[in-house]
Amino acid sequence: MAVAYDPKSPAVLANPYPVFRQLQIDDPVHWSELLGGWVLTRYADVQSFLRDLRFSSSRIAPRMETLSDAERGRIDSLGRALSLWMVFTDPPDHTRLRMLVHKAFTPQVIARMRGRVEAIVEELLSQVEHRGEMDLIGDFSYPLPATVIADMIGVPSENLEQLKQWSDDIAGFAANALSTAAVRQRAQQSMAAMAAYFWELMEVHRRAPSDNIMSRLIAVEEAGETLSEDEIVGTCIFLLFAGHETTTNLIGNGVLAFLEHPEQWQVLRDNPSCVASAVEECLRYDGPVMSMARVASEEIELGGKRIRQGDRVFGMLNAANRDPRQFPEPDRFDIRRQDNRHVAFGFGIHFCLGAPLARVEGQVALSALARRFKRFELQTSELQWNESIILRGVKALPLSWVGS
Ligand code: HEM
Repeated sequence: MAVAYDPKSPAVLANPYPVFRQLQIDDPVHWSELLGGWVLTRYADVQSFLRDLRFSSSRIAPRMETLSDAERGRIDSLGRALSLWMVFTDPPDHTRLRMLVHKAFTPQVIARMRGRVEAIVEELLSQVEHRGEMDLIGDFSYPLPATVIADMIGVPSENLEQLKQWSDDIAGFAANALSTAAVRQRAQQSMAAMAAYFWELMEVHRRAPSDNIMSRLIAVEEAGETLSEDEIVGTCIFLLFAGHETTTNLIGNGVLAFLEHPEQWQVLRDNPSCVASAVEECLRYDGPVMSMARVASEEIELGGKRIRQGDRVFGMLNAANRDPRQFPEPDRFDIRRQDNRHVAFGFGIHFCLGAPLARVEGQVALSALARRFKRFELQTSELQWNESIILRGVKALPLSWVGS
């Protein structure tokens, strides 16, 4: 039976899980005219797809062609830097880049951030607590990871607002397989501005290195290998992107899941030590990264279908995380779930480098919310979901609360 999958329909944006289940049953390797690519929904297929290096990441990189004269210069180098984002590279380039970046972005560096994350969480919540209501996204789950990652990279906090504007423009293009020409143009202009900003910042940290990722990327060296200036700028911009909207949506989608399952909120309040498994369940139940795309570098047989060379393929992480073949009762939100091997952070050589940081932020945020607020109430009947095939999250989450 043919299943209609329209990722932009309001019903699917609000709740894609029924159509994912239908696809898992009727058409697990589904050709989507709308997306111009294959859509994989079963856990086993998504895992083997992410492991299979014949599906290329480098060929999926958004290209910044069609530049006007005024936009040349910095953007040329940013266009190159974008194609050097490690998430858009294949081995051997990826192996070298990841190894060098990993040296500057170690679990130890991340562990040192916990205290700073706790301080930012407390500060953000004390600003809203007396009001009795907040927009969880705008007031809390966006500023938290944006401040943390900017701090880690070495971006001064007074530049955050400007960076947010640029990154919104770029994300609007990069995360949407169905972007228009106007969206693309705005993204290019913001790219140029952001590139110029980061090139200047690199000079600042080169002259006066301190304890931040940009300084460490400038200094990193392994077996005679170092990062080029393009790679340093590209990596910092990528970390800024990778490090905020994803975590924003982890907290936003997580709180939404708790709103639908108030008994689980009570479990968390009664058992604060459950917070680590609660974060894993939020990632599984309604994760922030809906899909990962690749391009087939040769003809590949998958689930009885013939994927041609050059075809685009989307591995739907959120569908895989609700596959009943992998998770008993997958639609049940259970913060004490055991053996929760979700693929929300991807799988294989591109497995999320920031997972330890996202986990710390998610755990500190949920713990503080559960400690302070007995019960949340949603202040709207119409949530607006971002129209993205990649990032899943709401634009705003107006909440009020009862009791503490
Ligand atoms: C890669 C998810 C937070 C840095 C990835 C990938 C996923 C992902 C699915 C795999 C991409 C692929 O297979 O092509 C998430 C989620 C997050 C999160 C769900 C939050 C809940 C972060 C944070 C950072 C970060 C906070 C760092 C500041 C990266 C990097 C990669 C990556 C550097 C590229 C790894 C590579 O290509 O080798 N992330 N991420 N992520 N993520 Fe995250």
